Amino acid sequence: MTCCWTKSVLMVTICSAIFMSIMTLSFLQNTKFSFMPTAKNSICRGIPTDNTITPLKDNRTFIIAPYFDHRKNKVTRVIAIVHHNDVKELYCWFCHPSSGDVNISKSKIDVHSDRFDFPYFVMDLHCPEPEDWEPRCVSIHWSSYGDINHLPLFEIKNREPEGSPVEFTVCISTMFGEYNNILQFVQSMEMYRILGVGRVVIYKNSCSPLMEKVLGFYIAEGVVEIIPWPIDSYLKVSSYWHHSMDPKDIGYYGQITALNDCVYRNMYKSKYVLLNDVDEIILPIKYKDWKTMMQNLQEQHPGAAVFLFENHIFPKTVFTPTDMFNISSWSAVPGVNILSHVIQEPDRKNFFNARKMIVDPRKVVQTSVHSILHAYGDNIYVSMDVALVYHCRVPLQANLPRESLIKDTTLWRYNVSLIGNVSKVLQQITL
Ligand SMILES: *[C@@H]1O[C@H](CO)[C@@H](O)[C@H](O)[C@H]1NC(C)=O
Ligand SMILES: *[C@@H]1O[C@H](CO)[C@@H](O)[C@H](O)[C@H]1NC(C)=O
Ligand SMILES: *[C@@H]1O[C@H](CO)[C@@H](O)[C@H](O)[C@H]1NC(C)=O
Ligand SMILES: *[C@@H]1O[C@H](CO)[C@@H](O)[C@H](O)[C@H]1NC(C)=O
Ligand SMILES: *[C@@H]1O[C@H](CO)[C@@H](O)[C@H](O)[C@H]1NC(C)=O
Repeated sequence: MTCCWTKSVLMVTICSAIFMSIMTLSFLQNTKFSFMPTAKNSICRGIPTDNTITPLKDNRTFIIAPYFDHRKNKVTRVIAIVHHNDVKELYCWFCHPSSGDVNISKSKIDVHSDRFDFPYFVMDLHCPEPEDWEPRCVSIHWSSYGDINHLPLFEIKNREPEGSPVEFTVCISTMFGEYNNILQFVQSMEMYRILGVGRVVIYKNSCSPLMEKVLGFYIAEGVVEIIPWPIDSYLKVSSYWHHSMDPKDIGYYGQITALNDCVYRNMYKSKYVLLNDVDEIILPIKYKDWKTMMQNLQEQHPGAAVFLFENHIFPKTVFTPTDMFNISSWSAVPGVNILSHVIQEPDRKNFFNARKMIVDPRKVVQTSVHSILHAYGDNIYVSMDVALVYHCRVPLQANLPRESLIKDTTLWRYNVSLIGNVSKVLQQITL
């Protein structure tokens, strides 16, 4: 009996020893990740910050985020909004990840050329990194003197690849003005999905309670990522793109800043990034979806970084009957029904149509709204028989008679899946 008893005690002891070491191992493995130095848990001094817009004490500089950029030299590139007259010098205070020692690096300030006369605009600070160690966290300050304990401390992003990459990410810069165009939003989202989107990143300033519900649905589906964008808490924002149209601090809710941040944020998370507004759809004509289109375009242009697509206006004031579609259940949903708008404005004499872009984010350095300002690769102007930007909005040429407009039902080619998918989503959201 005792022998047996001893044996089983031994067994239990051995078993628990094995069990404990497995537990310890898995604990160590788990904690290895949580001990990755982030601004919050590192030994670095400073105030850990992960807001999307962080004002410095001078109220003239707003830090969006620092990103590691090894493409040319090893630098930390800080995307920031800066007042053009007042900010002359900025410093990166790099924190050594194990000692907490600080190495101060003066930044080169790189102004983006598309400023549209606004006093505040986006800039990149390039801070050369220390030669023999890799900083994980950095503070930004307008001087090389000061008390680091009072400076905001940021994690440097893009140091390690994170998450599993998707093929296509759409960047929607700045949703604002209590946005409530529910039907057009859901239709755009479902078109993006049909065309192959993996993720839609939305810089959100404001939207209606109903829209919050719709966003909640897409967040739960894993499609939408929201970046809070409270820019109007810090600056007077213009609803227009040029200062002369509405002389405020910064253009169009800081759209250009958001687009640049979106490119860097998704640099290693997405093969391609689409830079378009939520009322725009890059619509393939020659191919069935973005994947086949981009495979072909990339094969034809191996050195390309940027693909530009012509914008065409489909006025939301010009209707085409849609009785043949089973969409009567949509009539209670607020917003524009894009299936009713398949008539486009003709090209204007002596005007270039604006363009929107699909880019390889790893080749982009600086972006504007309709063009890339600096990239490691070529621009390709994609012709109209390959794809166009379907843009449903208020007319640009409101006085044209209907006969001068052009019917283009490319969108209707997707009617079966679009209607089925939109109806399903509207049912699930139960507006
Ligand atoms: C910066 O803005 C805050 C909030 O508006 C204000 O309290 C503070 O005095 C300002 N600081 C400077 C240096 O202007
Ligand atoms: C900071 O790093 C640079 C680059 O490695 C180096 O030249 C400089 O001496 C360092 N400064 C301090 C104070 O450690
Ligand atoms: C029309 O669409 C609704 C869903 O919105 C569906 O329940 C119904 O079966 C459809 N009717 C036809 C004739 O396809
Ligand atoms: C709807 O799409 C189908 C193919 O999916 C097509 O055969 C049909 O012509 C389209 N309807 C219209 C009105 O364009
Ligand atoms: C959209 O509709 C198509 C065709 O009806 C279907 O294959 C696809 O799975 C749907 N997509 C979603 C996200 O429901």
